[in-house]
Order: sequence, then structure tokens, then C-alpha cells
Amino acid sequence: ALRRSQNIHWQALTVDKEAHAALKGHRPCVVWFTGLSGAGKSAIADMVDKRLHALGVHTTLLDGDNVRHGLNRDLGFTEADRVENIRRVAEVAKLMVDAGLVVLVSFISPFRAERLMARTLVDEGEFCEVFVDTPLAIAEQRDVKGLYGKARRGELVNFTGVDSPYEPPEDPELRLDTTTSTPEQSAQRVVDALRQMGVLP
Ligand code: PPS
Repeated sequence: ALRRSQNIHWQALTVDKEAHAALKGHRPCVVWFTGLSGAGKSAIADMVDKRLHALGVHTTLLDGDNVRHGLNRDLGFTEADRVENIRRVAEVAKLMVDAGLVVLVSFISPFRAERLMARTLVDEGEFCEVFVDTPLAIAEQRDVKGLYGKARRGELVNFTGVDSPYEPPEDPELRLDTTTSTPEQSAQRVVDALRQMGVLP
């Protein structure tokens, strides 16, 4: 593919990631939530956000449903569009890590290759992959948005878990079993993991 960035040079910045981290009192990090639609990603991410904010951590939350109303409003749910969705979000997360933030990212992000790409954009120790592990049968049974029903009736195509694949993480930093833990317990486990990684003091 044509690389449009060919003749564009890299500009070194004086106020770099270290400078931002020193000011904020914590390390930056991408906390990447992945899981099926209706797995509980957004609810847990929101709860983590609240807890971190209360601890004085500078956070931001990127959520699929929201980002698809703005930055990624031109994208649908074909494989190519999902790949581009995640590519953009990963690059945005990287920019926000450079600004010193703890970036909570909540997207289905069904493909291993794209999650790996997101990981490689940031430095070692700055990526925490959280698998919100809810079995398809449970997510479908909850069907909070009624989308599984539509997909099963053929009113919605390319729906994850129905006629579009989901590749579960093989070695995530954290796996949350939402059938045995409450969202509160899950959120606390994420905060604990960030402490263990040295993101939080
Ligand atoms: S992806 O696969 O990462 O690009 O998806 P994402 O950006 O997270 O968007 C998922 C939300 O969009 C709604 N939705 C669909 N999901 C999956 N497949 C299809 N075809 C689809 N159409 C709409 C759905 O509400 C997802 O929200 P969550 O919060 O995951 O349930």
C-alpha cells in the first residue's frame, strides 16, 4: 500500500511522556477491554474510570458506541471496517498515553492481530489487556440492546458471535469471569492489576 507518510519526518517533543508522568504522579497506560457485545465491557470500564478518578488518576474512556458516533462514524461492521475502527482507536490511545493518561478502551475488538497491533504501539508495561469473558449464551440471554435477537432473525448482519467471529485473547493481563464476579469485584481487580503493574503508585 502507498505510504503517505513517506516524506514526513518525526518531530521530537520537549514535554515528553516522562515529563507528563512526573507531573501526574502515575504512569500512563492503555487498559484495553475486549469481549462480546453485551459482555459488560462498558459497565466495568465505567466503574474502573470512577475508581481511578477518585484516586486522583488522570483517565479518559474511549467507548465503541460513542466513538462510532464521531471519529469513526464512517465505519460499519465489516471485517475491514472493524480493523480500521481499532487501528484509529489504538492510535488515539497511543496519543493519549503520550499525554500521560490512563486510557480505558472499551471495544469488542474481535481480532487478535489488531489487539496485538494496539499493544505494540505503546511501550512495555503500558498495555493491560482485559478479557471480559462472558460466554455467548449468557450475553445473548441478557441481550440488553436487543441486537442478538435482531441478528438471529436476520435483521442485522455481521453480528459478533452470530455471523462474525470473535477471537478470545490467549494471554491477557487479566481475565474477568462475569458469571462468577460482580462488576464491582471485576473493577477492583483491574485497579489492583494496575497497581501491580506499577501504573499506580
Ligand atoms: S468492533 O468490533 O470492535 O469494531 O465493535 P465496537 O466498535 O466495539 O462496536 C460494538 C457496538 O456496536 C453495536 N453493534 C454491533 N456490534 C457487533 N456487531 C454488529 N454487527 C453490531 N452492530 C451494532 C453494539 O451495540 C456494540 O456495543 P457493545 O457495547 O459491545 O454491546
